[in-house]
Amino acid sequence: MKIIKVTNQVEGGKAAFDIIKNEMVAGNVKTLGLATGSTPETLYQEIVASDLDFTDMNSVNLDEYVGLEASNDQSYHYFMKKHLFEAKPFKNNYLPDGTTSDAKKECARYDQVIAENPIDIQILGIGENAHIGFNEPGSSFEGTTSEVKLTESTIAANSRNFAKKEDVPTHAYSMGIKSIMQSKKIILLAYGEKKAEAIFNSLQGPVTEDVPGSALQNHSDVIIIVDEAAAKLL
Ligand code: GLP
Repeated sequence: MKIIKVTNQVEGGKAAFDIIKNEMVAGNVKTLGLATGSTPETLYQEIVASDLDFTDMNSVNLDEYVGLEASNDQSYHYFMKKHLFEAKPFKNNYLPDGTTSDAKKECARYDQVIAENPIDIQILGIGENAHIGFNEPGSSFEGTTSEVKLTESTIAANSRNFAKKEDVPTHAYSMGIKSIMQSKKIILLAYGEKKAEAIFNSLQGPVTEDVPGSALQNHSDVIIIVDEAAAKLL
């Protein structure tokens, strides 16, 4: 596991961008695994400002809220369009479809998408409870795409983006930890003191399904980009 300490989120975005750019120039990237949340926003700004061409590449996102249309401004479809896809067209952008009520079918479809598009670099943020994607504490490390019931703490943390807490969906479709771990390279980004405990537990605590991020200790190519506050307990 390689840890890169940066002074702030802007520098973190640049550090992640440089890694992706070098891998792309070396011809190592066909599929990018993407994440939502405020954490990767500066990375996406770097990509948008760059001259990198993604038109021959595919993207596979980690997750989507159940029940939200792609046009809903709180959906992860909308987020990705606004922060990246509108400015940087890809060959294909894959996300789970939050409007599908047949969860089993949708999860099987998404697992097929992941199987057909092996992820070369997966970008990850992390939840305050160390969730990755929407894999909450207790999720199996062998898990593939599933419908997840969000924990109260995740709903509370994510409610900052919604008008009121009741508007936050209670469920999401998420790529499983097994699929995340099959990515060739993983870049995890974390900024701010709120993430310090999750980062400490994921990197230096025991490897346990109670701490989803700790699965990363078992991956051979993980880069962690953190600011001082998130790295405080390391
Ligand atoms: C959501 C997403 C995660 C993300 C997390 C942290 O739960 N499903 O992929 O890592 O939020 O979000 P933020 O980056 O806004 O702190």
